[in-house]
Amino acid sequence: MRTPEREPRNTKGPAAPRGPAAPRGPAAPKGPAAPRNPNAPRGPRTPREIKALIDALDDDDEFDGDDEGERDSLIDVPGGARLQKVMAEAGVGSRRYCEELIGAGRVEVDGETVRRFGARVDPDYQVIRVDGKRIPAKPGLAYLAFNKPPKVLTAMSDPRGRKTVADYLGDRSERLFHIGRLDYDTEGLMLLTNDGELAHRLAHPSFEVAKTYLADVSGQVQRDLGRRLMAGIELDDGVATADTFRVIDRSGQRALVEITLHEGRKHVVRRMLAAAGHPVTRLVRTDVGPIKLGNLKPGTSRSLSTREIGELYAAVGL
Ligand code: URA
Repeated sequence: MRTPEREPRNTKGPAAPRGPAAPRGPAAPKGPAAPRNPNAPRGPRTPREIKALIDALDDDDEFDGDDEGERDSLIDVPGGARLQKVMAEAGVGSRRYCEELIGAGRVEVDGETVRRFGARVDPDYQVIRVDGKRIPAKPGLAYLAFNKPPKVLTAMSDPRGRKTVADYLGDRSERLFHIGRLDYDTEGLMLLTNDGELAHRLAHPSFEVAKTYLADVSGQVQRDLGRRLMAGIELDDGVATADTFRVIDRSGQRALVEITLHEGRKHVVRRMLAAAGHPVTRLVRTDVGPIKLGNLKPGTSRSLSTREIGELYAAVGL
């Protein structure tokens, strides 16, 4: 799997070229300005100046090799697409709104703030961030949240003919992977994507994001259950530890509890609670890192928002 080189966030030096090399001029001034030279050329500042500049821009995506005068001094990949167009297609907002973000200095390409409109970028190779959050700029990437019903296999096909996640996704043309697994009987939030790098990181133990579950358990829950789970429960493959635990509701010999943990081991929540004396009768995953199940209906999916994708990227250091 390709792991492209990345610039650290907010890097101050010039961006490393990625993909097709871009001819680069001297670095543009960044951040809090040095003492002003009254004779120095300045960028557009008033709304009128910004509008005039936007109106003058050609949104045609073909690079004609002859627009030297409108090139950004830092970012301009020959044959690339206009930055505001790439941002709009990634779901950031309308092109006009994206231009406002660029003008306000809120957009970075490969770690460099780009303030000038019309920069051309290569979304296949370059990392674009808005307010420090990466946007899903690469064309063709899909990110879904799915509410898995019980009695559905976490797989895209099953030789034994059981229902699988794929049965709920319709005729999507992308080859989606499920990120992690839920047991056959467990319900709730499952993420799917064709972004191999994100899927790999989300599934990798070193990046384990927190996952939250609601569990119906049997037995009378004692006050010290949370403390015991957070101190670590001995399982046959090692200790498992909850990050947080709370009782949502209790009545007689059953309770509804919420547990959060970073663990990805098989049946880990069921095994922990059973080992603590409370077998699980129903288990629903409600959160994966920053993504919430919300009121997504069982058996349905939704596309993640650009903001949610940015938060997922951030959760795994992308
Ligand atoms: N823990 C479980 O016991 N089951 C799941 O599906 C996920 C976590």
